[in-house]
Amino acid sequence: MTIDEAKELEMKVLGIFGSPRRGGNTELLLEEALKGAEAGGADVERLFLVDFTIIPCKECHGCDQTGECVILDDMQKIYPKLLEADVIILASPIFFYGVTAWAKALIDRSQALWARKYLLKDPSLGKGGKKRKGFFISVGATKGQKVFEGSILTAKYFFDTFNAEYSGELVFRGVEAKDDISKHPEALQQAFEAGRRLVQDR
Ligand SMILES: Cc1cc2nc3c(=O)[nH]c(=O)nc-3n(C[C@H](O)[C@H](O)[C@H](O)COP(=O)(O)O)c2cc1C
Repeated sequence: MTIDEAKELEMKVLGIFGSPRRGGNTELLLEEALKGAEAGGADVERLFLVDFTIIPCKECHGCDQTGECVILDDMQKIYPKLLEADVIILASPIFFYGVTAWAKALIDRSQALWARKYLLKDPSLGKGGKKRKGFFISVGATKGQKVFEGSILTAKYFFDTFNAEYSGELVFRGVEAKDDISKHPEALQQAFEAGRRLVQDR
């Protein structure tokens, strides 16, 4: 097998870091998940949203006819990454019972992919198209029963726009200070295992 052929077979994993706080809890969890994916043989790319400029969706419907967003910012670099990935792991803490504005801006801009799939019936995003997997990681400071409900739904519908089957979530309550999650080594272990499982169960 050539190196190119081996690369073709490798699972591509895209990790989306949705917290503006570098070194925080969701970053530590997603990093473990990505290490697990690497241990499972995957090719991993890390996307720190705080390093990108993503303007919120303007609801101009400019994508309805083309499936392409008319806003020419860093999101244009992210669309191809979403489509190339086999597994997308989105990590965001809970901010006011939702995902962060950083993550939501990216999610709303996936409306262009929604248009491609549902308005333009692009077969590559239909049932016969490439199969992807989506996984969600989150933490919240409170212990509220419903604290993750809205964000899980948001993540599910985001993943659906590019044909990523929802493969579950890993969420932890009562996690607030920057590295609180480090006090829960079992949580980091679970993240590592989730990352490895995502690339091994094809
Ligand atoms: C603007 C803001 C809003 C927040 N809203 C919530 C909330 O609604 N529910 C909750 O449980 N925690 C909330 N939190 C707490 C964060 O989810 C928590 O500190 C988390 O550990 C941050 O994750 P990170 O370290 O990955 O950034 C909020 C924090 C901020 C800064």
